[in-house]
Amino acid sequence: MELDPVGRPLPLFPDPAPLASHGPARVIAMCNQKGGVGKTTTTINLAAALAEVGRRVLIVDFDPQGAASVGLGISPHELERTVYNLMMERNASLSEVVRATGVPNLDLLPANIDLSAAEVQLVSEVARESILARVLRPALDDYDVILIDCQPSLGLLTVNALTAAHGVLIPLECEFFALRGVALLVETIEKVRDRLNPRLEVDGILATMYDSRTLHAREVVARVHEAFGDTLLQTVIGRTVKFPDSSVAAEPIITYASNHSGASAYRQLARELIARGDAA
Ligand SMILES: Nc1ncnc2c1ncn2[C@@H]1O[C@H](COP(=O)(O)OP(=O)(O)O)[C@@H](O)[C@H]1O
Ligand SMILES: [Mg+2]
Repeated sequence: MELDPVGRPLPLFPDPAPLASHGPARVIAMCNQKGGVGKTTTTINLAAALAEVGRRVLIVDFDPQGAASVGLGISPHELERTVYNLMMERNASLSEVVRATGVPNLDLLPANIDLSAAEVQLVSEVARESILARVLRPALDDYDVILIDCQPSLGLLTVNALTAAHGVLIPLECEFFALRGVALLVETIEKVRDRLNPRLEVDGILATMYDSRTLHAREVVARVHEAFGDTLLQTVIGRTVKFPDSSVAAEPIITYASNHSGASAYRQLARELIARGDAA
């Protein structure tokens, strides 16, 4: 049997069975307060891989930079209504803000720079940590998976994402200082679980930008495995310029370079999460 990068037997994760009906959605927050670790890339490509096997998927762009929206071909400054309006206006309706993407089965709740004001404005709201959970409630029955692409911070927006979520995925760049900050992230997740969202679990840590030719990358994943055991997912995402290339093309790698190893890696991630029971 093939082995994963830390020497565990790597099963052939089965092809997901078709779903006879859709929903209720499992909500997964893509979270790491460090920028540039692959949150947005993972959100877009995991979503596209799940959509490809017939799952109905909603991406919630929850970063004022709007990278997930841009990465799916939507220019954020042209948007009149975004997730910000749903958070701040009681009578805004989700269905008027959600958009279809170029990928079948994949919808997007877009964001733009407006969302940066929410962090401050939410402070004075009642139940300010659970506003996103309220916003997403009407969507739960329509999707199998909802992926929230968080901004690189542990502020109130991220706490909203964690309060709305069933699970957290933590992308971790295979670099020497990657583990710095993970303890703080785990502490935040535990606080949210204790105080706001008892069902919240860490679904997995995903090693990204992995270069199997370097000893260094192998050492980083070995350290992560030592510290977190089988929370480290078996799938790792290799480092390749096809990812930035596909962002420029505003498409998931799944459709932009469907036969590339990067696309296969995200398809395997989708199968692994389904096999673990972390996605429908
Ligand atoms: N596996 C990878 N290999 C090479 N480049 C990657 C990979 N994953 C992401 N990138 C690139 O790294 C940059 C940061 O990734 P991104 O997903 O935007 O991170 P985050 O959302 O955590 O800030 C982007 O330019 C992206 O295209
Ligand atoms: Mg991002």
